Amino acid sequence: MIKYAILGFGVVGGGLAQVMADQKDKLAAAAGRQMELGYILVRHDYPDSPWRDKLVRDFSLIENDPDVAVVAEVIGGVGAAYEYSRRAILAGKSVVSSNKELVAVHGAELAALAREHGVSYLFEGSVGGGIPLLRPLCRCLAANRIDQVYGILNGTTNYILTAMDAHGRSFADALKTAQSLGYAEADPTADVEGIDACRKTTILADLSFGQNVDPADIPTRGITQVEPADLELARALGYTVKLLGRAARTGEGICAFVEPHLVARDHILASVNGVMNACAIQGSAVGEVVLCGPGAGAHPTASAVAADIADAVRHMADPQVPDLGRPGGALLPADALCSRWYVRAQCGPEAVSAAFPGAEPVYGSTGECGFVTGAMYDRRQLEEKLAAVNGRAAYRVLA
Ligand code: HSE
Repeated sequence: MIKYAILGFGVVGGGLAQVMADQKDKLAAAAGRQMELGYILVRHDYPDSPWRDKLVRDFSLIENDPDVAVVAEVIGGVGAAYEYSRRAILAGKSVVSSNKELVAVHGAELAALAREHGVSYLFEGSVGGGIPLLRPLCRCLAANRIDQVYGILNGTTNYILTAMDAHGRSFADALKTAQSLGYAEADPTADVEGIDACRKTTILADLSFGQNVDPADIPTRGITQVEPADLELARALGYTVKLLGRAARTGEGICAFVEPHLVARDHILASVNGVMNACAIQGSAVGEVVLCGPGAGAHPTASAVAADIADAVRHMADPQVPDLGRPGGALLPADALCSRWYVRAQCGPEAVSAAFPGAEPVYGSTGECGFVTGAMYDRRQLEEKLAAVNGRAAYRVLA
């Protein structure tokens, strides 16, 4: 019997053990043979767990068990997760992972190592949680030149923005609920500052453009500065606010960034609320495809990881390793992608017209106004004009 091991017993690890047990036969059919849980690597005791007889603290038990064919790394981070992933591959085991930080930072290296050692390295759950996203991007859209990928890639921030917009809840209150529902990272800074979305944008860019991107090179702004006034003014202008990760191919190269955006109320992404994620893929043959689903949480993420385990087992003689691209040149600055901008400002309509001819301000309950500019390439040019209107905030508008 083929065995698999789970590294980590947090939200995703617990969900994975459950989903693997619940769908044992269905997964066996997908894998082409029965699979047995061999070990769960833990750091704490779980005396009441139904899997207590599988819990181990010593990774070498897994590494040295020749019956373990697949290791599911759901520890998170780039410390132990990186070390154990490497060691598992070196020991001839396939590795599957939902760890976006590890895939964004060391994915290309681990993929190369997996190819060298004839094992699979799969990470469907690392972007979009339970949404089938990376396989469709790499396989179903193989006949396309990918021109842009963009989307709502973090469930915690989407949950917070939705709660602030629809229910008037405060940022702190909505964050607390997202944490209690198991959506947030151990340190929610990675969510609210856009770092988690940046890692996912990196992986999408790697897979889309064949250029391995360093997440540190992606300009990233989170949602901590989005105020209730922005949501109110956006609504009056016909928009909502979403944190988007975007990666695009231009004539000159690749550009990628993570920022809050105004999204028109009739755009498909505007209706993606709560913990849901959605990713739009623009392909040369297909046009635009949007994939949507639960982007975080134990069972949605486990759904993706469990399918990867089955896939790795099915393909033991024909290992699967997505192409995370070659190290490439520098990314273009975010300005390479032309945008209109939303501006929140403290000024009268005359000042708006003088600085931004044609812009039509709306006024909100704080006395501030909001308006949308024409298309501008250069953020510096925008920032110079912000002083003239006493600008308080500026966010891109999704074209
Ligand atoms: N903290 C992440 C989110 C978990 O909120 O989307 C899923 O990657």
